Formats: sequence, C-alpha cells, structure tokens
Amino acid sequence: MDPTSLQRLVFLTSLLSCSTNQARLTVTPSRSQVFKNEPVSLRCEDDSDGWTVMRNTSDGKITECEDWGISAGSSCNSSHMDTWDSGVYWCESTEGSTSNTITITVSGGSVILQSPALPVMEGDDVTLICRTKMADPPSADFYKEGVFIGTESAGHMTLLHVSRSDEGLYKCRVQNEGESPESWLSVLDKPTTSMDPPTTSSAPPASSLHLVFRVICHLVVFCPYCISTFLMVSIYRERARGSDQSVSMAMNPSTHAEQGLDDDYDDVMSAVTTEHQF
Ligand SMILES: *[C@@H]1O[C@H](CO)[C@@H](O)[C@H](O)[C@H]1NC(C)=O
Ligand SMILES: *[C@@H]1O[C@H](CO)[C@@H](O)[C@H](O)[C@H]1NC(C)=O
Repeated sequence: MDPTSLQRLVFLTSLLSCSTNQARLTVTPSRSQVFKNEPVSLRCEDDSDGWTVMRNTSDGKITECEDWGISAGSSCNSSHMDTWDSGVYWCESTEGSTSNTITITVSGGSVILQSPALPVMEGDDVTLICRTKMADPPSADFYKEGVFIGTESAGHMTLLHVSRSDEGLYKCRVQNEGESPESWLSVLDKPTTSMDPPTTSSAPPASSLHLVFRVICHLVVFCPYCISTFLMVSIYRERARGSDQSVSMAMNPSTHAEQGLDDDYDDVMSAVTTEHQF
C-alpha cells in the first residue's frame, strides 16, 4: 500500500473514533428535585477525561463547574445547592461535544417531588416520591400538567408499565405544607437494538430523535470499518497473487489494483465526508 493510502486510512480511522466520542451525565441522588442546602454530585461517564460539567441556570447564565462547584476529573460536586442553582446541566468536551442534559430544580419551599432525573424506559415501573423537609407526609396529592391524578398514602405514587403517554410535568402537594416545583418525566421507547444504551438520551423533546441519530451514527461508523477491512484484505490478496507472476507481467495488474484502490478510497472518503456534514 502506498503512503497516501495509508495516510487516508489513518485519517479515516481518527475521523471515525472522533465521531463516536460521547459522554453520559449522571447525578447523585438521581432525582430531579432537591431541597435548598442539599448536596448534589454530577459525573461525566466516559472512557476518557477532558469533560467538564456545564450548566444553564434560569437566569440564562452558562457557566462551568469551577464557578459553582468542586471539580475533580470529569465530576463536579456542590455541597449546598441553592435555589439559583436550578437549571439544565450537561457535560461538554474541549472539542465542543455535549452529553445528555439533566434538569435539576432546587426548592426553597418545604415540599419536593422526587422523580427520576434521567429518562425512564417504556414498560418500567416509576415511583414518584413526595417529600417534606421534616418527615414523610402521611399522604400527598399528585398532579400531571396541573390536573389532579390521585392521592397516595406516604406520598409514594407508582406508575406501572409507563408509556410515552405518561410523559409530562408532575408535581405534588402536601396538606398544610405546600406544593412542590414541577418536573418533567421523560419516557424513552424501548430500543430495538442492544447496541444503543437507553440512557444516552438528550433533553426531553429531542430524546427519540437523538436515539435515532445515535443508531444511524453507529451504523454509518460501522460500515466504513467493514469496507476498509474488506479492501485491505482484497488488496493484500491481489498483491500476493501479483508477486507470484514475473515482474513484467505484474506491472500492469498491480497498477490497475492501485487505481481501483484509489477509486474505492475516494468512495469511502466521500461517504465519510457526507456523514461528517450531517
Ligand atoms: C438557558 O436557559 C434560559 C432560561 O431557561 C433559556 O432561555 C436559554 O435559551 C438557555 N440558553 C441556552 C444556550 O440553552
Ligand atoms: C463528589 O461526591 C462523591 C460522593 O458524594 C465522591 O465520591 C467524590 O469523590 C466527590 N468528588 C469531588 C470532586 O469532591
């Protein structure tokens, strides 16, 4: 293989590994709401470091961990959340790649709704917990999109086998205590392939679109690998056969092989370029 082809292959490989680079943001506790002064720990999960936890607070300020938490590697802790820490959190790499987002609401009141911070899968059972600062409430009223959906003892409401229709804004109310902020519950379609982890989703409205994009991305990334492996094998076979023949005979077929190789690489390259633009 001539140096140009080798360079192209190296370039192709680095492009592909770049496009699969993705982190996942998780939060502890894995709840969408906390009381004022409670701690929160955020982590960017990825094979490599170099991810920073970012946030956009309700005043529209976009800041990185250093400005509001204690960062170490790709994690970020805030020991005392305050109401102005409410906002959307995500991970960002130095190259500008971003992860899924998590919305955290800090309540200055006395009631919170503990709903999952990350999207849940279709078919899962989801428990919404209505908490008060002092003790577990004897009972709580639950609302979806502002509409009363039921009273539950101990403030635990379990939604059985959730579907997309369970998505929405939930809140709860405890008598003589008050009402929690609202939080969005996001439900993902069950994936049809095992290739795609369900939790690499984005913000609620974009979650299914993002999932589709990830599947396509995986396929597009996987195909060129197969093609280039196939090309390499066939080229080496061609070469091995060519070297068996006399030098004068081998010149022409070998040149043809090189020609064909260049054409094929051009095809692969244009395919990759198309993927990159998209
Ligand atoms: C940040 O949050 C504010 C308020 O929620 C929103 O209006 C704004 O569009 C967000 N900015 C970005 C860049 O997402
Ligand atoms: C953040 O908190 C978690 C658990 O609460 C702890 O394991 C981790 O070391 C902390 N990280 C930093 C940067 O303080």
